[in-house]
Amino acid sequence: MNLAESFKNKLKRIDDLPTLPTVLQKIIEMTSGNDASAQDIIDEMSADQSLTANLLKVANSPVYGVSKRIESIRQAVVLLGFQEVRNIALSASVFSTLEVAGRRGTFDRPVFWAHSYLVGYITRDLYKQFPEPRSQASYFTCGLLHDIGKVVLDQYFMREFFMIVDAIRQHNVSACTAERDLLTMTHADIGGLLLERWKLPADQVTAVREHHTPWNTPSKLATALYYANQLAFMLGYGSMKEEPPVTLDSFYASEDVAWLDEKGILLPREVLSAKFEELRADEEHLAKAINQSAGDGVATSA
Ligand SMILES: [Fe+2]
Ligand SMILES: [Fe+2]
Repeated sequence: MNLAESFKNKLKRIDDLPTLPTVLQKIIEMTSGNDASAQDIIDEMSADQSLTANLLKVANSPVYGVSKRIESIRQAVVLLGFQEVRNIALSASVFSTLEVAGRRGTFDRPVFWAHSYLVGYITRDLYKQFPEPRSQASYFTCGLLHDIGKVVLDQYFMREFFMIVDAIRQHNVSACTAERDLLTMTHADIGGLLLERWKLPADQVTAVREHHTPWNTPSKLATALYYANQLAFMLGYGSMKEEPPVTLDSFYASEDVAWLDEKGILLPREVLSAKFEELRADEEHLAKAINQSAGDGVATSA
């Protein structure tokens, strides 16, 4: 059996992959049906202290720009809306769920967190360009979770992950290229599978699965994730130190451009460049927000 086949077989074995904590499973079930009231769900969340603590840290981070400090789940729901709070609860707990006790991952977790957080921030910002009203509340959290497949690889497929990192270094290729060559699937596919298994809404599953290939789906959220990811790389916040940097020049010289253009979702260079400059001008504020969120310990428990 070759590496790709054995990897796929392993991935199929449901028990190998992490499950969501019961409280989150319950919240997802409650929020996808019609029988639970907002009060029931607020009660369920509030009963879990670590979930509440993590949620309030994210809700109070600069992404949401709330001027008054949010002190309770109820207040968060009033200020941010119910769906947004549910999504924050989920993403705030997901990273720690994926940590295998006693094992440190291979890649640099603070670097990964900074990338994920920034992609969340930019994705939310790109709602204006790529609006998908049904999914509006998911823009930040999908950004936060978009590379969750890399955490699965890092934590559960150590041998494969070492080989991927090695291929990235040796051939100076993106993670996706190395993953596709070795495993015939990418961290985006794996992230999509994981979110599907966790019964997340289909729009979020699709957006995460296609965040490197938004031309495969009409999802504007996927397109927002794609550009947010490129912009984070351009700003010097890649998800792994080993991956080659991205610049405006390298982006417009890449193969992606033809695919994006064909589907009518290619941002003209002056538009992307203006967005990049706007974010760069705000870099100090962004770096502070990233440090603050990492310091909160939401995702740096490994
Ligand atoms: Fe990615
Ligand atoms: Fe990424």
